Amino acid sequence: MKAQLEAIRKGALDAIAKTQAMAELESLRVKYLGKKGDLTAVLKQMGKLSAEERPAMGQMANQVRAKLEEAIEAQSVLLSQKALEAKLAAETVDITIPGKKISLGHKHPMYTVLDEIKELFLNMGFEIMDGPEIEQADYNFTKLNAPENHPSRDWTDTFYLKPDSSVLLRSQTSPMQIRAMETYGVPIRMISSGRVYRKDEVDATHSPMFHQIEGLVVDKGITMADLKGTLNAVIREIYGPETKTRFRPHHFPFTEPSCEVDIQCHKCGGKGCPTCKGEGWIEILGAGMVHPKVLRGCGIDPEEYSGFAFGMGLERLALGQYKISDMRLIFENDIRFLEQF
Ligand code: DAH
Repeated sequence: MKAQLEAIRKGALDAIAKTQAMAELESLRVKYLGKKGDLTAVLKQMGKLSAEERPAMGQMANQVRAKLEEAIEAQSVLLSQKALEAKLAAETVDITIPGKKISLGHKHPMYTVLDEIKELFLNMGFEIMDGPEIEQADYNFTKLNAPENHPSRDWTDTFYLKPDSSVLLRSQTSPMQIRAMETYGVPIRMISSGRVYRKDEVDATHSPMFHQIEGLVVDKGITMADLKGTLNAVIREIYGPETKTRFRPHHFPFTEPSCEVDIQCHKCGGKGCPTCKGEGWIEILGAGMVHPKVLRGCGIDPEEYSGFAFGMGLERLALGQYKISDMRLIFENDIRFLEQF
């Protein structure tokens, strides 16, 4: 029996040392140490030994087992190291292959212009408000003093969402004037920007969806001089300190008096060119003193408070600032166009 154990020890250690793969090592473990393995087979014969012989043989068998387990463990460490080395050698990185280009996006040019404008107004103490694009006709028209027969209320001009004309896609950001006054009361100084919708055909200067920025100031003693001073300051920040402006009388239902504001054409300096359609001036916004009826409708006493409001198209501003000739480029999201900014 001693000879048997000695043979197992020697044979196993030789075989273990020669293994090249983990699977091979595992099958050796089963062959020698498993339930049906060689060592177990020898141990089963212990019963045949005499009581004197048994302890010595038992001890020897345990030593052989311990020796084999140790050898298997050591070989397994060795094999996994070799496997790792082989893997690393096979997976070498070719540092001469050109890298993949990571392309970072950037802000859309129109939003760059919007952020500049927001910054200007924030610095003048204005607050920024957000409002719904799906709006009630009450807010888009009625509370803004638009009479029932006003052309913009027509189904051919505005996208209505209900047959009774009570809900629509807002056609202007002006309803935010009402929401601001109803929510925060007076005094107030706010701007609000966002999408507006009109049934316009698409061309170089029109789109059924575009962006506006609305502004509203209501306080005691606000006059047309405040309107002109504020808008001139903003326009000169955007278009340069030398920019000439022109305040032209106009009509809007929710302001009285109302005006449109033009800037002298930045392309031709006022001589007249295709950009200004020969006019020398480019219209950029509508404005006026908030109508007393509108104030009263929001629970504000027009004897005590007065205010001014304005609204401007953001696309047109961006077109002017970046000298872009066609509004469609703003919405098409052609990367080749956007990458230029
Ligand atoms: N909402 C007007 C439009 O879409 C623009 C406008 C004009 C806004 C005068 C105003 C304003 O706040 O006072 O044509």
